[in-house]
Amino acid sequence: MARVLVTRELPAGGLDPLVEHGHDVVRRDGDTPYTHAELTELVGGVDAVVCLLTDRIDESVLEAGAASHLRVVANVAVGYDNIDVVAARRLGVAVCNTPGVLDETTADVAFLLVLAASRLASEAEHDLRGGAWSGWGINQYLGNDVHGATLGLVGYGRIGRAVARRASGFGMQVLHHARHRTEMPGYVESLDDLLAQCDVLSIHVPLRDSTRHLIGARELAQLRPHAVVVNTARGPVVDEEALADALHAGTIFAAGLDVYEDEPTVHPHLLSAPRTVLLPHIGSASRATRTQMARVACQGASDVLAGRRPENLVTG
Ligand code: GLV
Repeated sequence: MARVLVTRELPAGGLDPLVEHGHDVVRRDGDTPYTHAELTELVGGVDAVVCLLTDRIDESVLEAGAASHLRVVANVAVGYDNIDVVAARRLGVAVCNTPGVLDETTADVAFLLVLAASRLASEAEHDLRGGAWSGWGINQYLGNDVHGATLGLVGYGRIGRAVARRASGFGMQVLHHARHRTEMPGYVESLDDLLAQCDVLSIHVPLRDSTRHLIGARELAQLRPHAVVVNTARGPVVDEEALADALHAGTIFAAGLDVYEDEPTVHPHLLSAPRTVLLPHIGSASRATRTQMARVACQGASDVLAGRRPENLVTG
């Protein structure tokens, strides 16, 4: 029996793979993250950590764990930019994540943002709730049609492809750009060519050194003035300040965002930008998906503790 630190209260049933194996679960109640100092201290007493994307598992946390008997860190997320994977590998701590189970749910939110930003849903609702709607008007809230538009996907992994399926159903033409040639229809080798052709740009790449500010002022300037930018991946992939500038200047039409460079802080220029739909990182937030994510992460931790290779090993 091993000791497992679970850094937050998980959805009901999420812990089952650990509980079924009789592990001793040290569980944080509620939704408040541990401080870095608390985490560093607590990892010294456990064999496994099940954590969230808001827990920073850096080199010092991993060293404190590895100096004791930490064997695995399981992230309840598909992205794992909150974990120093290089340090984990060096220290022999396994890292696993939860790909696959959140693709459709996250793609739903990406498409929600495509629709809401293109059709100015937030501004229109804001006016209505504020009593500023004076009745139907032929020139009011004139957005962009989604049907018939060209969607440019940056990144064509599971989530990007799930968004592509939705877009086809809405009568969009779908193009994609990825680091490696995909050999699939709609592949565009150059990001600049994709930017110049798309009406809606949607980001689906993980955060890495090579993708930080992948979409910056230069890239935004390649978009046409009616373009809509959607980001459900990771905030730092887009230069938030440059995006806010483009929205304020009207060099792009609208944006729909679920992720931010410095969560939970949102750049004030984005908050004041016109034609912008802002969601608080809810891409995977359905009850069923969050429960599945918790179960997959706990299963990964449980596999490592049993000496098995977990299905979603990031450090492998
Ligand atoms: C959510 O943002 C995730 O990476 O799972």
